[in-house]
Amino acid sequence: MPTVIAAINGKGGAGKTTALMNIAGEYALRGRTVAMIDMDARSNLTKWWSDCRQKQAQAEGIDVVGHKTAKAVGAFLDRAAGSFDYILIDTPGEDTAIIDPVIGWSDLVISPIQASKREVLGAIDCVESVLRVNKALGHACRHGVLRTRVSLTVRYTELYRKIRPIIEDKVGTYLFRTEVMERNVYKDIQNGIGTLQMQELTEAIAKARRETQSIVAEIDELLGADGVTGGGR
Ligand SMILES: Nc1ncnc2c1ncn2[C@@H]1O[C@H](COP(=O)(O)OP(=O)(O)OP(=O)(O)O)[C@@H](O)[C@H]1O
Ligand SMILES: [Mg+2]
Repeated sequence: MPTVIAAINGKGGAGKTTALMNIAGEYALRGRTVAMIDMDARSNLTKWWSDCRQKQAQAEGIDVVGHKTAKAVGAFLDRAAGSFDYILIDTPGEDTAIIDPVIGWSDLVISPIQASKREVLGAIDCVESVLRVNKALGHACRHGVLRTRVSLTVRYTELYRKIRPIIEDKVGTYLFRTEVMERNVYKDIQNGIGTLQMQELTEAIAKARRETQSIVAEIDELLGADGVTGGGR
């Protein structure tokens, strides 16, 4: 069975689609097969993939499909799940009922956040949904919060400093040790030039690659892919 990872934060623009593109690129580079499901009506991921096709920059090992309803995704999973090692589900940046079934299918839900109150609240809503769905289904989906678009300036903000105590101590979910820094390359890849891992290895790209590898190592650890039992939900 494939490992299913979803990106959910009901407060838009947190970095869900970007995070999934990078994670997909990393797994593909390792020779794994990845299906990305675009559930967002604005179809950012599907558009990226067709731009990549035009530029002959689609990554090997990745397939992107657009399915906007739980029913369509369920049918896709029934039909095709066995053909992939990883299924990554991108969800809309708004509160929606589709996230309950998505959590029900997922082994891990990642909530990206920037240091803004609404995105932290969005991540907390997501934790509550994961707990509720897990309880209702007797499921064991884990949850982790990923800090994105971090800069040195952001690190000096009061909210940034509160993220760890809020997420780890108050909410009690997993906080990724790795932060996704604000980097131009993450914007550039949206232009259909393929995955991060396909870009020429400049110093800036190398930093982004290391960051992504480190996130994927944390995901593997959380999911017990190395025989380690993770600490998230
Ligand atoms: N680490 C980063 N550094 C620089 N730019 C970033 C980073 N992460 C995301 N972005 C940019 O921020 C914008 C929003 O990111 P993205 O589309 O990944 O968020 P999202 O959560 O999927 O948004 P939505 O809810 O609208 O689907 C995009 O223009 C993206 O290029
Ligand atoms: Mg998106």
